[in-house]
Amino acid sequence: MFISFEGIDFSGKSTQIELLKDYLVEHNKKVEILREPGGTEISEKIRNILLDTKNLVMFAEAELLLFSASRAQLVREKILPYLEKGIYVISDRFHDSSTAYQGYGRGVPLDIVNQVHNLAIGETIPELTFFIDIPVGIANERRKKKSKGKLDRIELSDIEFYNRVRSGYLEIARKEERFKVIDGTQTIETIQNQIISELELINRR
Ligand code: ADP
Ligand code: TYD
Repeated sequence: MFISFEGIDFSGKSTQIELLKDYLVEHNKKVEILREPGGTEISEKIRNILLDTKNLVMFAEAELLLFSASRAQLVREKILPYLEKGIYVISDRFHDSSTAYQGYGRGVPLDIVNQVHNLAIGETIPELTFFIDIPVGIANERRKKKSKGKLDRIELSDIEFYNRVRSGYLEIARKEERFKVIDGTQTIETIQNQIISELELINRR
């Protein structure tokens, strides 16, 4: 099974992914966690270009293609082989991040974003996507506490950008049944329980 986690930065994705992994391993499942952009040698190199604060003038189209190039490599090199072996794949972000950040956030037309997804990932779409939703203000509070002022290139974007990204995610949720919106302002434990319930629901089908 292929599961992705989405949300604005600091929404709590990594925290929940670790907890879900523990739960699945306790239930004797094999699990691989991947992060986007990254997860392969080539993808990690692309990640460095994307997040480097020296690359401040990067055009939205270049950004979309770099994220997608990284993802195209990850799908073929890791995700498909894992899924073929029956391993659970959990990805910290996937193509919905490009729709939300480069599409809704930066303004690349959505039909073009979807065409690029088609080339990069084809049919390899997560069966279940957890969107951990928090207001941008709360994300900023967490950011201040955690990162001590060190931000990557994307994180340097302004508050309006993050508001567009968040509304973009909510828009995707209205269109895609696989997309589950979870209130990320709840406690870590409550969120974890909701995630496990959704997963059990799908597995029972
Ligand atoms: P992401 O991977 O989405 O950037 P993290 O899991 O790294 O987010 O969490 C960002 C910060 O918020 C961390 O300091 C984490 O401990 C904290 N955090 C995560 N989940 C919650 C929660 N439900 N309530 C309060 N703080 C949280
Ligand atoms: P990362 O450090 O992985 O952030 P996080 O821990 O919040 O997931 O950095 C990835 C950054 O790149 C993050 O700000 C979101 C952004 N991003 C896009 O803009 N488009 C994409 O397609 C992906 C995968 C990420």
